[in-house]
Formats: sequence, C-alpha cells, structure tokens
Amino acid sequence: MNAEITQTIEETMRAQQVIKIFGGQRYEANRFNDRSERLRRFMLKTASTMATTEPITQFINSFSVSVIIMIALSQAGDGQMTVGGFASFITAMLMTLTPLKHLAAVNGPLQRGLAAGTTVFGIIDAMPEREHGQLLRQRATGRLDFENVGFSYPGQRQPALADIQLSVAPGETVALVGMSGGGKSTLVNLVPEFYTPSSGRILLDGQPISEIALTSLRAQMAMVSQNVVLFDDTVAANIAYGDSNPDMARIEAAAKAAYLEEVITGLPDAYQTQIGDNGMRLSGGQRQRLAIARAIYKNAPILILDEATSALDTESERAVQAALDQLMQGRTTLVIAHRLSTIEHADRIVVLQDGRIAETGTHAELLSRNGVYAHLYHLQFARES
Ligand SMILES: Nc1ncnc2c1ncn2[C@@H]1O[C@H](COP(=O)(O)OP(=O)(O)O)[C@@H](O)[C@H]1O
Ligand SMILES: [Mg+2]
Repeated sequence: MNAEITQTIEETMRAQQVIKIFGGQRYEANRFNDRSERLRRFMLKTASTMATTEPITQFINSFSVSVIIMIALSQAGDGQMTVGGFASFITAMLMTLTPLKHLAAVNGPLQRGLAAGTTVFGIIDAMPEREHGQLLRQRATGRLDFENVGFSYPGQRQPALADIQLSVAPGETVALVGMSGGGKSTLVNLVPEFYTPSSGRILLDGQPISEIALTSLRAQMAMVSQNVVLFDDTVAANIAYGDSNPDMARIEAAAKAAYLEEVITGLPDAYQTQIGDNGMRLSGGQRQRLAIARAIYKNAPILILDEATSALDTESERAVQAALDQLMQGRTTLVIAHRLSTIEHADRIVVLQDGRIAETGTHAELLSRNGVYAHLYHLQFARES
C-alpha cells in the first residue's frame, strides 16, 4: 500500500507535463485522495495491532535473556563477582537497553519522515503557476511567433536559448534539429509555458502567451514525447485523458487513426481493459501509439512532438510514424526527431546549436548549403549504412 501511494506520487510528478497539457488536475487530485484515505485506514489498523503486541514480546525477550545469563553465570561461578551482583548488572544493562531500543525504533521512521518531508516541502515551495490571464473564446489558428527569445535555467551560467527569432504559420510543420543539448526541448517547453522566457516573448495568433490563461493556452496544444506517460486506468480513460465527459465514438476513432484498433480489440476487455502501471501490458510501440491516440482525441491546433519515436525499433517506428503523419494533418507542428530521415518532408527545418538558430531552410536547401545540417545528415547516413 505504501508502495502504491509512492507510485501514485511518482507517476504524478513525472507526468505533470502531460497532466498540465491535457488538463487532468482534478482527476489526479481525486485519485490521490482516494489512495491516501485507504493508506490512512490501513496504517491506523497496523499501528494499533503493533501497539498491543510489542510490549509483550519485548518483555518475554528480556526476561528469557536474563534467565539464560543467570543460569550460565551460576554454573560458571568463579569468585570474581557474586551471582546477585552480576544479575543486577545485567538487569541494569537491560533496563538501559530498552529505551535505547525504542530510540532505534523511532530513528528509522524519523529519517524516512524527514526525507519525505524534504521532498514534499520542496514541491510545496515550488513557485505556483500563475492564475491570471485571458480565457480564449475560440480555437486558435495556431500561428506562433518567437520574438528574441532567451532562456536560462536557474543556476546555469550558459543560457539554454538566446536570440530565438522564429515565426510558424498555421498548419506549418517545423522540425528542430541539432546536437543533444542544443536547446530543442527547452524551446518547445516554452510554448505551453512550462518555463517562462528570460527575455523576449512568444505570441500565439499575435497575442503574447503570458497574457493568456494557462488552461486556455494549453487547451490549444497536444504533446507527445519520448517518455510516454500512461495512467493506471483503462485504455479508454488513457485516450480521453483530461476529458471530464469522454466520448466513446471519438475514442474509437482516435485509436483507429493511431493504428491501435486491432491491438485494443484483442485485449480481454477491449477499451475497458486496465493497462497497469504505465501501460506495462503494452509494448513500447503500442504505448507510443496510445499517447498519439490521446493527442488525436484532443484535436488541438498545435502539436508538439519531442523525439516521439526515438525509443522505438525501426519496425514499430514505421507504424508510429504513419500514426504521426495522420496526426500532423492541418495542425501547426513543432517536431524534434533524432532520426533525420523522419523530418525530411517538414516545411522547414531549424538547426539549433548551443541555444541559437544556426540555419533554417528545407531539407534540399540545407543540404545544398553544406553547413551544419548537411554535416549532421551525412554523419547519420554514414552510421546507418
Ligand atoms: N531542467 C534543466 N535544468 C538545468 N539545465 C537544463 C535542464 N534541461 C536542460 N538543461 C540544459 O539546457 C541545455 C539545452 O537542453 P535541451 O533543451 O534539453 O537540449 P536538446 O533537447 O536539444 O537536447 C543543455 O545544456 C542542458 O544541459
Ligand atoms: Mg531534448
């Protein structure tokens, strides 16, 4: 039960980006309350049982120990110390031992409590997200503008992003490429405002995102990343995650578009099958497609894909890529892919190097320029063949 609650907390922390984007806050709060209540009742029962049995066992233990020592001593019986003197020494020792034992019994839980406390207070002390902002009346067209955007992580000397100037038209697919640590993930994480730019600003349909209510802002986007987050619930609940009024017909349509229909109908309870902790009953490719089905179900104008296929083997990558192509239709898409072959057809490719835009263009343009992109491309091509 303790493991169960730790798992819920961990899952929730790891999943917080997914929860924020898909609006699952209330669902998570209810789930947490439910499990805490069960844990509390269980702990109370265990504690009261322990309290009644512990003193008795301890008494029997110390009693038998002193009897054994006294017998041993009377048998040994040399003249150094009287049997009575030694017995009182042992008794005194046992008497001091018992409080010490209690201290030791307290120490473990105390240490664990302190460690847990540090984590919990760390979370509580984290800056709460802003609550002000304008609610959007309608669906965004999906235009994004980055104006001179810079960003530094707290405590890092080197900025993660600097001077980012980029405009993305509604429905356009822009691929972000570059070496690891170049700032690709940081850039896409600024769009749902998981982080706020240190300088410059980002606009959605011409309006600064800092003026838009976070719920409204995040309602305009779906995100699929390398670390798929699935919840210990049914297949249907995972696809419609965050929707307080799930629509079964739309769930099935999303599963079909993500090439998951056959997989799901093959499960014991089809859409009502419990998928287990983070989807352990599914393969990597199936989990990834479930995350894509969730994004399809959400049907948002902006789509963010952060290495959505990199954890997969080539075989399942192909199936997932087909599902992604389906999902990208008619949406503004920011896509990060480690395999350059999957983004060759993007409308535009932006190369990030040390937090700055090094090059921009189509695949053909960048190849003929023979710069950073061409270098990366040939490197990967050589490695694969
Ligand atoms: N949470 C974080 N805290 C501190 N530094 C970070 C964090 N995430 C990324 N960075 C740093 O920011 C830079 C850009 O990282 P990232 O955006 O993840 O690059 P990419 O996605 O291109 O691999 C790197 O130097 C990385 O070490
Ligand atoms: Mg990254």
